[in-house]
Amino acid sequence: MGINMVSMLRKLLFVCACLALAPFLRAGGYEIAGVVDVSTNDTTLLISYTDKKIPHFEYYGKKLNSPGDFIGKGGMTPPEMGEENPLYSGRGGKNFLEPALAVVHSDGDLNTELLFEGAEKSVSKDGNVQTTVVKLKDTKHDFFVNLIFTAYMKENVISERAVIVNGQKGAVELQKFASSYISLRGREYYLTHINGAWANEANVSEDRLTRGMTTIQSRKLVRTTLSENPSFMLSLNAPLSEKSGEVVAGALVWNGNYKLDFEFDEFSNLNIISGIMPVNYALGAGEKFETPEFVFTYSSEGAGKATRNMHDWARNYGVYAGNKQRPILLNCWEGVHFDIKEDVMFEIIDDAADIGAEMFVMDDGWFGTKFPRNDEFAGLGDWAVNPRKLPRGIAPLAEHAASKGMRFGIWIEPEMVNPKSELAQAHPDWIVGAKGREKPLIRNQWLLDLSNPEVQDFVFGVFDSILKSSDKISYIKWDANRHLEQVGSAYLPADRQERFYIDYVRGLNEVYRRIREKYPDIIIQACSSGGGRVDYASLKYADEAWGSDNTSALSRIFIQYGESLIYPVKAIGAHVARSPRRNVATSMKFRSDVAMMGRFGIEMRPKNLTKEEREDLKRAVSTYKSIRDVVCDGDMYRLVSPFKDPNYAATMFVSKDKRRAVAFIFCVNENENTDRPYFKLDGLDPNKKYKVSEINADRPICMQNGKTLSGEYLMNRGVGPRFMYGLSSCVVELTAVE
Ligand code: GLA
Repeated sequence: MGINMVSMLRKLLFVCACLALAPFLRAGGYEIAGVVDVSTNDTTLLISYTDKKIPHFEYYGKKLNSPGDFIGKGGMTPPEMGEENPLYSGRGGKNFLEPALAVVHSDGDLNTELLFEGAEKSVSKDGNVQTTVVKLKDTKHDFFVNLIFTAYMKENVISERAVIVNGQKGAVELQKFASSYISLRGREYYLTHINGAWANEANVSEDRLTRGMTTIQSRKLVRTTLSENPSFMLSLNAPLSEKSGEVVAGALVWNGNYKLDFEFDEFSNLNIISGIMPVNYALGAGEKFETPEFVFTYSSEGAGKATRNMHDWARNYGVYAGNKQRPILLNCWEGVHFDIKEDVMFEIIDDAADIGAEMFVMDDGWFGTKFPRNDEFAGLGDWAVNPRKLPRGIAPLAEHAASKGMRFGIWIEPEMVNPKSELAQAHPDWIVGAKGREKPLIRNQWLLDLSNPEVQDFVFGVFDSILKSSDKISYIKWDANRHLEQVGSAYLPADRQERFYIDYVRGLNEVYRRIREKYPDIIIQACSSGGGRVDYASLKYADEAWGSDNTSALSRIFIQYGESLIYPVKAIGAHVARSPRRNVATSMKFRSDVAMMGRFGIEMRPKNLTKEEREDLKRAVSTYKSIRDVVCDGDMYRLVSPFKDPNYAATMFVSKDKRRAVAFIFCVNENENTDRPYFKLDGLDPNKKYKVSEINADRPICMQNGKTLSGEYLMNRGVGPRFMYGLSSCVVELTAVE
């Protein structure tokens, strides 16, 4: 057969195929009329719309250079099967899956069918942030949704949020209003997320999803992330692995009740629906509802790259002052608890300065006059200095710290109140709870009603008046030690009580916003019984979160590992504390090596240290100063997961130019040790030579200490610490020599 014959046959086959396909497509599938491309440098998110303007979440994955290929070749869903891969589905219409949006329209209609109306793009001045607004409108009502996709080009992170507008003459009731709807196409899905409890935060668990619905959620309103974090990593077709495989990682930017649904549907798609925990929310004529944003990234190189993308985005956009260096602080909580006294504070400030700390933080116990805060039973809410403890107030302490070259910080918990307080007596109507019911206590305290603007002013005033008491205060630890159980607001009308779940959070964030407007340079720590506010909504205003009240170094290896999947380590407070702690005795070296993998700090009364411990701590502080930029602003590579390996944990950080790196390796069992594992490093330049130096050690145990080796060697052979006993550690610094 001649070439012409072959090509003619091919053409014929093509025509036949088209003919066969066309009626089928018209019968039930869809023809893609156009696409909206929301790409970053290495990823593409593609929205498609049909000739009938039905929008779909068409693709999310590796960067595509010719998204136009999608046009014309639509899905082939049989007509009776509803729409697959919706973009942002309303309840009803042709949708039977979990919707993104559920509305009761002004005429009682329960259906919403959003059609594509157009898209608009804008670009930031530096070109790195590209915003795409996708406009949707219901087929029947004047009801609009704008989906706003923001693409962070070099970080390869995208955020999605919705602005819902009621253009009808009457009010509608929103019953669900997701931030995002992401529809992935795979065969199997593995969900990794972090969860736990007080002092046991951020356990990493992975489950293979079964068909149907899996949900991560919190109804606690406050300290939501002690139990479940609104973030995840989703691995497609294989269990999560560090260096390979397709991974989508995401986090909801909301510090209240939330719901992340993972619906493995009958078409084998995985629909990820994120948003505020639904409540009934009336939206009046002409009103709009803005959802929080959901941030996410795609990696075709496993979990490690997904983490690095999130960390880059967080430092550049997600965390307050994310690119600033964090000071090394000493917090006195575990040193003295509520037993604050001026002379003791002076003593600790002196010691902190001697050890090399850059900031001193006075914790709980400094306030309350009529009801002194001597324990957790009284005084919360009364933010006046206790003159019996600090007769000259806060200013002399802050000035003393400044005279020693240090900054000063202080603890507050302004959203809360003890029943035994002047505040509770003066403003019973400010306390959250329902009339006629006994209000339950947690840690002997109640929650203040931040949906009430008067309470917002009060909370702002607490912050403001403390900062006015001395211009030397530069850090506030903002605590929140209970969550919500009984609900009820004396401020909100009876038919708007459900709004409390949203208005509390909006009220809190409004206070944060006002604070940031007035105090842009104050460092804020979001603490909430430890790691209860490790979320990107809190971190939008706070420079850091407190990782956990559990300061046992062994536990912290796990907790910090879990939190760092999604959140950058510079935004997680990690402190060296006393030992034994929770019955596990660890050396000062081990404790400080663990704390060095975060925003390093100290939590103790240094007077209680032995001479050797104090010297070791001093060494750790000066070591951290020399590697802080690499740990905090470098790329993180996880080498060994403590959740997977019973004996070891290892993580390393590499500077962006790959000239410096630090690897932290821990033996996490308690046995005498005789095995001699090697740890392959990662993220280095294979062609560079690195000087290997073990740091923060009296007697180095790394076999390669002092050698100059290629990145290739270090990443393929690795380094071998000779651990002699359990609960020991080895920190290796690598410096490029050429
Ligand atoms: C919470 C915090 C601790 C400490 C105490 C003070 O538990 O997480 O760090 O500040 O409150 O009461």
